[in-house]
Amino acid sequence: MLIAEGDQDRTLFILESGSVSLAQKTDNGEQKLGTIGAGDVVGEFAFIDERPRSATVTIGETAQLLKLDHAKVMRTLVDTPEALAELLQALANRVTLRLRSYMSEQSVQNELSKVSGISDAPAGKTGDAYLEELIDEALAHPAVSHPYLNDLAQGNLPDLKWALCDFATQYPGYCAHFPRYLTMVISKLDSPKHRMTLMQNLIEESGMLDDEEIEVLVEHGIDPDWVQGIPHPKLFERFQHAMGVHDTHEQADDVLEVVCWRESFYHLLSNGSPAEAVGAIGLGTENIVNKIYTPIIRAIERLGTLDREQYVFFELHCEVDDDHHEALLAIASDFADDRQNCIDLRKGMLKALGLRAMFWDWMYDRARHREPCA
Ligand SMILES: [Fe+2]
Repeated sequence: MLIAEGDQDRTLFILESGSVSLAQKTDNGEQKLGTIGAGDVVGEFAFIDERPRSATVTIGETAQLLKLDHAKVMRTLVDTPEALAELLQALANRVTLRLRSYMSEQSVQNELSKVSGISDAPAGKTGDAYLEELIDEALAHPAVSHPYLNDLAQGNLPDLKWALCDFATQYPGYCAHFPRYLTMVISKLDSPKHRMTLMQNLIEESGMLDDEEIEVLVEHGIDPDWVQGIPHPKLFERFQHAMGVHDTHEQADDVLEVVCWRESFYHLLSNGSPAEAVGAIGLGTENIVNKIYTPIIRAIERLGTLDREQYVFFELHCEVDDDHHEALLAIASDFADDRQNCIDLRKGMLKALGLRAMFWDWMYDRARHREPCA
């Protein structure tokens, strides 16, 4: 056996010859998923996402594999952008193929059509003036000003603890896949400069911080030891465990609303134009992170049972990862001198915001109809 389902390990394998077979546990015992042939990659989900292995992989008799250690690969790739681009492209293709099998093209399209009743972009404008309008439009969107977020921050929910536990349970079904979203966007960009910028974000996602970022942390009273070398999905897990939420990986894949959000967002990144993908992950996501995580921090503080170290995930994203959105704005700005790209930036942004707002609607409904704890 090469990989056991559920294992935590990020090694990536390239199959040089022979074949390997994949199987997954189900309620009716083990189910065969198929085989992978020479030239293909094995283990890409865990490599990108830092999630437990999704399947058991058994090696055929003649198989020869090349083993790639995660930390070493990341370091090498930063120095060799061409190799990086190729690997990311291969990984992005693989991950897209696998995702397709979870959700039909039609159901993804249906989901996206709910958020695509989008009015025309302001005429005539391009460049940074246009971008500024988009930023304002994003910040005024229900994805940011949603009553769910306000009521969490104000404690206006029947059971704040239950609501935060529910958030801790459901949200990672989308956000734990962030490295995969970034990988997809990087693989779509032509400019090496743009790719390297986002690669830097991807490296930060895996917990590697540089001196400048550590300085910012210290300024905000965050102990660098709380975060250095720890991938972001792990930091979220720390928050989950502190809230008493355990073992959500499998659960999260059963909840349709969460799967819809994740897969529709991924579909938007993989099928849209590069400008649309940048609009979605930049203007519609990184750009608003700060505004979304601040009310979550307020709610956690209001609850008053967690140490700062336990919810450092949110502060980290508000204070340090703020430069992610600067980096993405710089990329968006390069796209914004072309009229069609301007329209696509906005389209991607509004779709990403629309998907998030639908998720908040659902979460709000759950949080409001929960009876208070005795
Ligand atoms: Fe992150």
